Amino acid sequence: MKGFVDEETCIGCGLCPSICPEIFEMNNETGKAIAKDIEIPDNTLEDARDAEEQCPVEAIDIK
Ligand code: F3S
Repeated sequence: MKGFVDEETCIGCGLCPSICPEIFEMNNETGKAIAKDIEIPDNTLEDARDAEEQCPVEAIDIK
């Protein structure tokens, strides 16, 4: 499983890196979130899914 952020949709609210910093971080140049290109560790999956569910604009996909 990996995380994906649709940068077009992201409004840069900053929630996902605060919920799951292991996977999500802010791109300081665009002000949008990006997902690290790594396999999500089992012990991080729940946090990543929380971020997916709580993103206000549904910009996150975990797949
Ligand atoms: Fe953007 Fe949603 Fe994260 S708006 S900063 S992808 S919680």
